[in-house]
Amino acid sequence: ARRQKRSMYEMSEFHDQIARYRAAIEAFLQAQFCQELPQKRLFDAMRYSLLAGGKRIRPVLTLEFCRICGGDWQSAVPFACALEMVHTYSLIHDDLPCMDDDDLRRGKLTNHKVYGECTAVLAGDALQAEAFGTILRSELPAERRARCAEHLANAAGVDGICGGQFMDMLEDPPADEAWIADLQGRKTGSLLSAACAMGVAAAGAGEEKTELALRYGAALGAAFQIRDDMLDVLSTEAELGKPIGSDAEEGKVTFMSLYGEEKCASMVARLTGLAVELAGELGSDFLAELASRLSDRRS
Ligand code: IPE
Ligand code: IPE
Ligand code: MG
Ligand code: MG
Ligand code: MG
Repeated sequence: ARRQKRSMYEMSEFHDQIARYRAAIEAFLQAQFCQELPQKRLFDAMRYSLLAGGKRIRPVLTLEFCRICGGDWQSAVPFACALEMVHTYSLIHDDLPCMDDDDLRRGKLTNHKVYGECTAVLAGDALQAEAFGTILRSELPAERRARCAEHLANAAGVDGICGGQFMDMLEDPPADEAWIADLQGRKTGSLLSAACAMGVAAAGAGEEKTELALRYGAALGAAFQIRDDMLDVLSTEAELGKPIGSDAEEGKVTFMSLYGEEKCASMVARLTGLAVELAGELGSDFLAELASRLSDRRS
């Protein structure tokens, strides 16, 4: 019965809802960083990566969490786009020669390949600062802005992306499950969790919802990164829009290198099951459908 309910939902609403969210996100991002100033080339570099056509999973999560917590999701669009700015910055830096050294991102040349390393570093730096500016300048009550900025700072800093990326870059990492889970929770899970929690904060909802949001985000995030590691081995560059084989080339320890495809697929299935269950507790068919679609995504 549940399967049938989900597939009815899938047919009717998921597509429209995600299209509405994405349109609002694109419109807001389109309007950013277009002034004619002496540093225009820096703006161009920021817009190049920001508007290159990501899946917008993180901002979509914020908007849906805001909606299910009784908020006006449109008012959360600046918060959602702040997440996409931090995410995009992290990708620009992740692709640099000193990190993963990749040439393709979102189906286009990576930022440093087009604008040079110096500008790519600064475009990432600026996107991160502008993310916090975007939150702080938005129109929601000061307390909600502060909560959101705090969630984002936690996800971006030493316990989040930067800490996780540092662990990911170590030369001789311990190749055990606990290490990889911790690393991936920081570099990827933290921002997805923050995306969910920021939607709760934007709606002004409390602890109980925040707790569920963080748990949903952590399960989704863990599944998401394992799927990413699988695609790095199993997909094609054309389908993925970024290079395949990058992890092996850089000697990365992932669940794919440790356990292989079959075990990874079952880990993704288990984590997705958990996310779907939490979506049920949250009363969102959309979040259940999103988790299930991400678990077998091809890009
Ligand atoms: C890529 O994230 C980096 C990871 C955390 C795996 P996405 O797969 O969300 O990338 P875009 O935003 O759609 O390009
Ligand atoms: C996630 O890991 C990167 C960030 C958190 C920025 P990857 O290095 O696997 O991401 P992709 O595969 O390059 O998108
Ligand atoms: Mg990386
Ligand atoms: Mg990478
Ligand atoms: Mg990857």
